[in-house]
Amino acid sequence: MGRYALQQFIDDAKKAAGQDCAPHQCVASIAPRMMRLLAEGERFLEDHHIESDSKQAARNLIYASEDDSLSLYVLVWQPGQWTPVHDHSSWGVVGVLRGLLEERNYIRMNPLQEGDEHIDLRPGGIILMNPGTVTTFVPNPDHIHETGASADGQGAMTLHLYGRNMDSYNVYDLWRRTRTRVNVHATNLDAISKE
Ligand SMILES: [Fe+2]
Repeated sequence: MGRYALQQFIDDAKKAAGQDCAPHQCVASIAPRMMRLLAEGERFLEDHHIESDSKQAARNLIYASEDDSLSLYVLVWQPGQWTPVHDHSSWGVVGVLRGLLEERNYIRMNPLQEGDEHIDLRPGGIILMNPGTVTTFVPNPDHIHETGASADGQGAMTLHLYGRNMDSYNVYDLWRRTRTRVNVHATNLDAISKE
């Protein structure tokens, strides 16, 4: 089997996601392809794909489709960096390039309730992911989770493909029992704009 290049993965993902597939079909089709890309190690990455940020997990944009139907990021997690509790309103495929990624899941106890208030979340299980691991999620009900790298570990570097332009996501406040849409920005915006 020959090398599986980044552009080939993007083309395959576009084809898989462009066939009006249901979210569970999209992720089932793309997950093995991401696993194959991870097997290439880090050779498909360029310097501006792996920037880090001492204040928060760095979100390096690799690819965003013109119709906003797909986006691909490399996230660089320094030890102890965590997301807030969130969901993506989208399907996603996540693979680990380096280090150990932890995902903590939350279960919405009133999943049929509409709106952004009076949300009761209960902590669920966790997943620990090593290099080469691929995990996926689909929305409706929302996949609510927080992700990060242990403070006493080596950090992590991970690849994330989403079924939309992931420039915002829903952040949950467990104390106030609310959900808020928050805009998020790519760490490597300067490098991207020079391309
Ligand atoms: Fe997430």
